[in-house]
Amino acid sequence: MSEQNKEGLPTEAELAEMDRDQLLKLGGKLDDVELVEYTDPWPVKGTKAEKRAERAVAAWFTLAGLSGLAFIGVFLWWPWHYAPANTDGHVLYLLYTPLLGLTLGLSILGVGVGVVMYAKKFLPHEVAVQQRHEGRSTELDRQTFVAHMADAGDRSTIARRSIIKRSALFGAGAFGLATAALPLGSLIHNPHKDSTNENGLWHTGWLAHDGERVFLRRDTGDAHALELVKPEDLDAGSMETVFPFHAPKSASGGVDYAKLDGMLAGTERVDEHELVEALRRSDNPVMLIRLRPEDAKRVVKHQGQEDFNFGDYYAYTKICSHLGCPTSLYEQRTNRILCPCHQSQFDALQYAKPIFGPATRKLAQLPIEVDEVTGYLYARHDFNEAVGPAFWERKS
Ligand code: FES
Repeated sequence: MSEQNKEGLPTEAELAEMDRDQLLKLGGKLDDVELVEYTDPWPVKGTKAEKRAERAVAAWFTLAGLSGLAFIGVFLWWPWHYAPANTDGHVLYLLYTPLLGLTLGLSILGVGVGVVMYAKKFLPHEVAVQQRHEGRSTELDRQTFVAHMADAGDRSTIARRSIIKRSALFGAGAFGLATAALPLGSLIHNPHKDSTNENGLWHTGWLAHDGERVFLRRDTGDAHALELVKPEDLDAGSMETVFPFHAPKSASGGVDYAKLDGMLAGTERVDEHELVEALRRSDNPVMLIRLRPEDAKRVVKHQGQEDFNFGDYYAYTKICSHLGCPTSLYEQRTNRILCPCHQSQFDALQYAKPIFGPATRKLAQLPIEVDEVTGYLYARHDFNEAVGPAFWERKS
C-alpha cells in the first residue's frame, strides 16, 4: 500500500477514476475548506428574472462594443485638425477630445459592469473558509483546484448563455481594438507626410523658403488679422506672443514691400489659409521679450547664439522643453519664464536655461533682426535647435 493510502488519500489510479464532484469534495476535505455557502443563483431555470439578468449583462457588453467601435470611428475620421474660433469646424474640433474620452470611457464601463454583473448574477454564491498552507501545491491539490474552477465555470452556465457569450465577445473585442488603435495609429502615421521637406520635424513655420522673409506677427486673437511688430511696440520688461508671417516676394526675389503695405492696410488680399495655418502649427508660437535696460547688461548668451537677439529683444519658443506646455508667463522682476504645467522656470537673462522644475533643456531661441525698410522685426532663420520636448529622431 502506498504512503497516500496510509494517510487515507486516493492512489493515482483511484484519482484518475474520480469524477468532478468527487474531486470537489475530496479537495475541500483535504484543504480544510469549510463551505459556508454554495448556492446556485438560479435553482429554477428559465425564469423571467433569469432572462432579464441575462439581457442586462448582454446590454452592458453591447454598450461596450458599440462605444469601442464609436471610439475607433472618432479616432480615425473625426476632423481633429485645429480650427480657430470663429472658423468653420471649430465646434467639431472642440468635440474631438471629449468624444474620444466619452466613447472609450463608456467602453471600459460596459466591459467592467458586464463582468461584475455576470459574476454577481450567474456564478454560484460561494463562501468558503480555508487554512493557508505553505509551499508548492501537490498534484492532488492542483487537480482538485482545476476541477473546482471547471465546476464553477459550468455552474455559471456560461456555456449555454449564447447571448452573453456573443455580446461579451463583441464588447471585449471592440474595447480591445479601441485600446489598440491608439498605439497602432501612432505607429502607422507618417510624421513626415505633410512636411514641406523630408526633415519636417526639424523645422517650424519660421523656416524661410527661397530667400523669403518671415516677419513676427502679433497675436491679436483674430486668426484673420495681420499685424506685424516693431521694436517700439513693446515696453521695457514686457512680453508678447508672436507667430510667423511669410512676406510676399517680389519678382527679383526680395520682399514685395508695396504688396506687404497693402496687406497691412487691408487693400491687398492676404492668404487667409496661410494666416490660419500659422496659428495652427504647435511649434510656431514665440515669446518676444523686451528686457529692461539694466537687466540687458547682465545677459549671458549661449555659445553659437551670441547674435540671436536684437538689442534688448529676445525671442524664445513658447513650447516648454519638458512636456510641451506653453510657457506663457514672464515675470518681469526676476526675468523668469514660467511654465504653468509643472512649474519649470527658465532664466531669460541666461539664454532661457532651466533653473527650476523638471525641464532639463533650454528654450529654443529664435534669431531676430529689424527689417531695414519697414522697421518690422523678422526672423533671420529658423530655430537651430529642437523645439519643445523630445521626439524620436532627436539627437540632442
Ligand atoms: S511642460 Fe513645462 S514644466 Fe512640464
